[in-house]
Amino acid sequence: MESRIDTAVEIAGIRLKNPVIAASGTFGYGLEFAQLLDLNALGAIVVKGLSRAPMLGNPAPRLVETAAGMLNAIGLQNVGVDAFIEEKLPPLRKFSTAIFANIFGNSTEDYVAVTERLEAAEGIAGYEINVSCPNTKQGGMIFGSDPSLTHEVTAAIKQVARRPVIVKLSPNVTDIALIARAAEDAGADGLSVVNTLLGMAIDLEARRPVLPNITGGLSGPAIKPIALRMVYQVATAVKIPVIGLGGIATGRDALEFMAAGASAVEVGTATFWDPTAPARVAKEMEAWCRANGVSRMATMTKSLRAEDR
Ligand SMILES: Cc1cc2nc3c(=O)[nH]c(=O)nc-3n(C[C@H](O)[C@H](O)[C@H](O)COP(=O)(O)O)c2cc1C
Repeated sequence: MESRIDTAVEIAGIRLKNPVIAASGTFGYGLEFAQLLDLNALGAIVVKGLSRAPMLGNPAPRLVETAAGMLNAIGLQNVGVDAFIEEKLPPLRKFSTAIFANIFGNSTEDYVAVTERLEAAEGIAGYEINVSCPNTKQGGMIFGSDPSLTHEVTAAIKQVARRPVIVKLSPNVTDIALIARAAEDAGADGLSVVNTLLGMAIDLEARRPVLPNITGGLSGPAIKPIALRMVYQVATAVKIPVIGLGGIATGRDALEFMAAGASAVEVGTATFWDPTAPARVAKEMEAWCRANGVSRMATMTKSLRAEDR
């Protein structure tokens, strides 16, 4: 008989049955995938980013394939927080998987307003705050590229949130540890590392950018080494738990992120070529632990040997 592996992990007081979380924006509202895989096999689901009002997003094309990755300029299309609560949350409550609401806005007040609406709803484990958005009230600076803006928005959300607040950091910064500490100082309960890297694709013959938006967010295996480095830097800079993501496609990838310091992981772009990727990654992690004599998966977190650091 196969030995039993304890796959449970804890993030900011939330117990997950395994460390694998479906990332925001690549798994819809979760429900779209219920026919393709058992949602109960996932540690958690982060839903598509939610704003105060519904948003249609950018014009097409919004996706471009790149070497080992993908550029997207979806433009944060979503049904809006009210429709999420009324239409998506009730069927999601039937699953035993933790649901994280991903929140974004163009001002601190927007973030707070969305959080307040979600606070009144049942069936949400915690919040993931997407700070890779411009603050249109203050010159369009990206919240997550400035420590004081990151601090401001995190502290304001913490004032109204009784559920754990995970701040999802932007990789488009010079010193990610500085931003991580600003979020921690403001009371963040955890950090997700990282969002997409700003990139661009060009149609050479047409002499035009491929995306009408000109730039897009790069994701997928192409960004994995960068994301891994940032998880390592953040995990050594803060005391709060870190969720690692960026290019994870296999159980080995996920366990590398845990070794670098992540307590849990998210799988995003991999679901584009394998819709069952988050469940498969969880199974592959368990198989690796069994083959390598690791009986409790949580012990993989920060397991890099000291002499290698
Ligand atoms: C099509 C698409 C839509 C995304 N939408 C969101 C979003 O709404 N909110 C968010 O925080 N991150 C969003 N992301 C970022 C992913 O959650 C993730 O941070 C990033 O893609 C890196 O992980 P990956 O390489 O596993 O995809 C999106 C990514 C993609 C590819």
